[in-house]
Amino acid sequence: MDRIICVCGAGTMGSGIAEAAAQAGFHTLLYDVNAGKLANAQQNIAGNLQMLVNKKKLDSGSMENIISRLHFSNNMNDCIADIFIEAIVEDPKVKAGLFNQLNEINHSEVVFATNTSSLSVSEIASQVMHPERVIGMHFFNPAPIMKLVEVISGSKTSQETIASIFLLAKQMGKTPVLCKDAPGFIVNHVARPYYLEALRLVEDGNATYEEIDKLMESAGFKMGPFALMDLIGNDINYAVSCSVYNALNKPERLKPSAIQKDKLTNGELGRKTKKGYYIY
Ligand code: NAI
Repeated sequence: MDRIICVCGAGTMGSGIAEAAAQAGFHTLLYDVNAGKLANAQQNIAGNLQMLVNKKKLDSGSMENIISRLHFSNNMNDCIADIFIEAIVEDPKVKAGLFNQLNEINHSEVVFATNTSSLSVSEIASQVMHPERVIGMHFFNPAPIMKLVEVISGSKTSQETIASIFLLAKQMGKTPVLCKDAPGFIVNHVARPYYLEALRLVEDGNATYEEIDKLMESAGFKMGPFALMDLIGNDINYAVSCSVYNALNKPERLKPSAIQKDKLTNGELGRKTKKGYYIY
């Protein structure tokens, strides 16, 4: 594969996206400001690949090749690539700021894809020097496994940028689907009440986390809402809840829950902090 991919943010999503890109044959750089996060990501990716080898889904030579295509850095000057996929904090200013800094040191056709779950791609793009090269590329968690990628065109995104990201998603073995730049796009908009109604049941004392998860999983859902929030990260889930709520003019039915805020205050972010609704 000729294009170089740089994934920014080595947390839950960035680590998985980098793994998927390297597995698809791309030279991939994973960048994060936090060296500790990079070390964790490197360890997690190696562990995931080793698990595939143990299950005989990957041979050890291919694992070595994938690892050799992956590079890690906390120095922005190393971030020279053809496509950037950012998976940093859910904040439009910070995301746009990162793209503008990267724009300074990269070639003039580089594409800036945001993995935002809920922010307006047009709004992020409006703060970036070249909005025609900004696009949403929304992966799902865990990124190496989940096939769906929502591709979100901002109001100024060019056809070339859309084509480039569709091609990349397909080369990564994903299923890209073009979505409108609406709050929460499609999946996160539809899924919002799954979390919020479950939280209301707990707030009102009508059921416990465990009961709700057990029942929803018995009813055929792959994960109950609380186990799923812990997988996503309670900080991210809360940020997405607030962003969709605000973008839709604060409808009562989508009001974020006080329980979500408490989880944030207590640093109980889910799997990534080893404690959320459950202990890990
Ligand atoms: P996370 O909190 O696990 O990781 C974020 C990483 O970004 C951290 O390692 C942090 O050190 C790094 N970071 C923060 N600011 C940075 C900067 N300016 N430059 C470089 N690195 C920086 O977050 P997570 O869950 O991976 O989410 C990242 C993005 O992906 C968010 O926009 C979120 O909405 C989106 N997303 C999250 C999903 C999930 O299930 N967690 C699913 C799909 C999208």
